[in-house]
Amino acid sequence: MIISLIVAMDLNRAIGYKNQLPWKHLPADWDNLKTVTAGKKMIMGRKSYESPDRLWSEVGNVVITRQPNYQTDAGFLVADTLEKALQLVGDVNEVFILGGEEIFRISLSIADRIYLTIVKGTFQADAFFPEFPEGDFREIRHDDYQSDSENPYDYAFIVYERK
Ligand SMILES: NC(=O)c1ccc[n+]([C@@H]2O[C@H](COP(=O)([O-])OP(=O)(O)OC[C@H]3O[C@@H](n4cnc5c(N)ncnc54)[C@H](OP(=O)(O)O)[C@@H]3O)[C@@H](O)[C@H]2O)c1
Repeated sequence: MIISLIVAMDLNRAIGYKNQLPWKHLPADWDNLKTVTAGKKMIMGRKSYESPDRLWSEVGNVVITRQPNYQTDAGFLVADTLEKALQLVGDVNEVFILGGEEIFRISLSIADRIYLTIVKGTFQADAFFPEFPEGDFREIRHDDYQSDSENPYDYAFIVYERK
């Protein structure tokens, strides 16, 4: 199974503020995310699950929480460790780990790929994408885009694959 992290961060590695995205609007990133993750299962932390910006997959999702008997909406399973979440995902070719910060911290060491959007601005934030050993990865995609009428910030889509 390919374990992929997918994340959008700003120039200071910010990914969240008050359990939402730090920026209000970047539709190109949502479009990219939907294209990249289409048909793939997702794993997310409990706080990201509770975020108004929550994402989910139509084919299956797992929420990681230490709370026993945590109740979720239909389409979401619950696991109390990352390892159990991966077991619940089952036999798939690729799974996406959606974050947030805490879940990225425990999954970076097992990531095969990182789909990274850089939002070229700085925003108020209380959640960040951890530093990771970039030398362990090679860039297999790097596309830079300018802001436009729909997307108020310059941004880049980068894909890293573990060497
Ligand atoms: N920009 C992006 O790409 C992106 C993506 C996702 C999220 N976000 C943002 O990131 C922020 C949320 O990140 P976060 O770090 O606060 O929360 P999070 O990682 O989404 O969830 C944290 C929760 O996961 C559970 N958890 C964490 N480590 C665990 C472990 N080792 N074993 C079992 N359960 C564990 C705990 O749930 P319990 O407390 O229930 O036990 C913990 O409170 C939000 O602002 C969100 O909008 C941004």
